[in-house]
Amino acid sequence: MKIISQINELREVLDLEREKKHSIGFVPTMGYLHEGHLSLIQEAREKNQVVVISIFVNPLQFGPNEDFDKYPRDMERDEELARNAGVDYLFYPTVQEMYGDKQTLTVKVHERTDVLCGKSRPGHFNGVATVLTKLFTIVHPTRAYFGLKDAQQVAVIEGLIHDFNFPIELVGVEIKREEDGLALSSRNINLTEQEREEAPFIYKSLCKVKAELQKGASPAEALEKGKEYLQSHINGQIDYFEGLSYPDLSEITEHDQRIIFAVAVQYTSVRLIDNIIINL
Ligand code: PAJ
Repeated sequence: MKIISQINELREVLDLEREKKHSIGFVPTMGYLHEGHLSLIQEAREKNQVVVISIFVNPLQFGPNEDFDKYPRDMERDEELARNAGVDYLFYPTVQEMYGDKQTLTVKVHERTDVLCGKSRPGHFNGVATVLTKLFTIVHPTRAYFGLKDAQQVAVIEGLIHDFNFPIELVGVEIKREEDGLALSSRNINLTEQEREEAPFIYKSLCKVKAELQKGASPAEALEKGKEYLQSHINGQIDYFEGLSYPDLSEITEHDQRIIFAVAVQYTSVRLIDNIIINL
């Protein structure tokens, strides 16, 4: 595995790979890798001749009161995990390398962001879309891999790839969970003991929604049951608990093929998100 922090150097090595007609699977991350990230790498490994991952904690997608400084980082460990997972190139740029001293423009997302995380994290998806536009332009991947844990992010990236005509196949990968159901996240390390104990109820409440739907409840009724269940089992603040069509994230109608139920819970220093997508 080669570690590269300069954009030009990465471009050069990937140009050579493309000359050899090698397909490139790309997994963008912010590091502090866990099994969720590794499952994306594994999928990329299975389908592509070359696997590139990036580790970059992108300041542009963090709000002024969010956890940019507290975001966990451990490059040594990440390097070992990436190497063992079969990554070929690890792109690890500095903020200076990515953004320089001054930016003249950013990407603004104006659909699919007025709900869920977009509502409480204004500007977040503009930051995600901007960094990914840059990374896609630098890496030119054949396929790009993203976790459905951040389902709204996947919906926004689908729009980005479509609207800007990136010749990239978007691959959405299932959520990896702890044995007790908690969705893996780099942020879980910042939960207190008590928060960690109650956090599995987030997924349990989503399973409750699914069970209610299977019993014949309407999406609205199932959502209410799930919300009540979660409220009575956790102390964390429910930021949202919503059911929407997927991926356009509009109100559910009877014509929808896929719907998403998504939750965010705010703890002392961590905000946890989770969701289930249901094919009707
Ligand atoms: P990060 O939070 O590091 O996540 C990197 C990728 O791993 C994302 O596609 C995310 O959805 C996926 N992922 C995280 N937890 C997962 C889990 N439990 N199961 C499956 N996949 C999981 O998401 C970002 O970074 C950034 O916004 C980024 C796309 C890199 C842009 O800066």
